[in-house]
Amino acid sequence: MSAFARNFSQDFDITWGSGRVKVLNNGELLTLSLDKDSGSALLSKKEYLFGKISMQLKLVPGNSAGTVTSYYLASEGSTWDEIDFEFLGNLSGDPYTVHTNVITGGKGDREQQFHLWFDPTADFHTYSILWNPHVIIFYVDNTPIRQFKNLKSDKVPFPKSRAMKIHSSIWNGEDWATRGGLVKTDWSKAPFTASYRNFNAKACILGSSGAGPCMDSYSWLAKELDAASLERLIWVQKNFMIYNYCFDTKRFPQGLPPECAAKT
Ligand SMILES: *[C@@H]1O[C@H](CO)[C@@H](O)[C@H](O)[C@H]1NC(C)=O
Repeated sequence: MSAFARNFSQDFDITWGSGRVKVLNNGELLTLSLDKDSGSALLSKKEYLFGKISMQLKLVPGNSAGTVTSYYLASEGSTWDEIDFEFLGNLSGDPYTVHTNVITGGKGDREQQFHLWFDPTADFHTYSILWNPHVIIFYVDNTPIRQFKNLKSDKVPFPKSRAMKIHSSIWNGEDWATRGGLVKTDWSKAPFTASYRNFNAKACILGSSGAGPCMDSYSWLAKELDAASLERLIWVQKNFMIYNYCFDTKRFPQGLPPECAAKT
């Protein structure tokens, strides 16, 4: 069992849009809302240096075009590290886009985007970030969709020294999220609400003297993708990936970023 009770009030602070955050069912369920005046956001009380962080999310149903629901890990400062999941809403019946990015030392530009093989607004699904000294893996319902490896190269920095907190928010991204602002948010449908449950962190908490203590078994700390998982990842990338910066030669006329030499 995780040492973290699944209680949002204990584990998170509300950092934005307070009246728009609701904690329900004795702390087991949380909703974040966006209306015309404001979005809302959460920040974990603890900082983590490596971990497997999981959350179940049910995204804004119906016409969610223009809304962005985010769930990410980030450190602070101008040379921060960040591991991002962002969910870009869409018109009713049109697919959400799952946007991922990895920022190291304040430098990102490593976007990969996916559609999902299910309707993420119909029910809760589990979105996890595994971050250990070897690799970062993004999972959807335990299916890996992306990995970012520690190539141990000066040219491809890997986040391994800055502790991160868990952030989550819902905000109005209509100028960015919907085909460059082509489709606007329909405020007559507000408030837009995303739901969260079953937060779980198998992680190392940052203590005063550095990393530790680590929770649960340590298996995630050494984890890399095995052959079967790698096959799943390739299946997702082949069938559901809609953008990969590593294929965007127009964007990088000087040559693709060095990590793009690795095929998955
Ligand atoms: C919205 O749906 C359209 C049509 O399927 C798709 O091309 C587009 O990528 C989707 N946009 C977002 C922001 O998910």
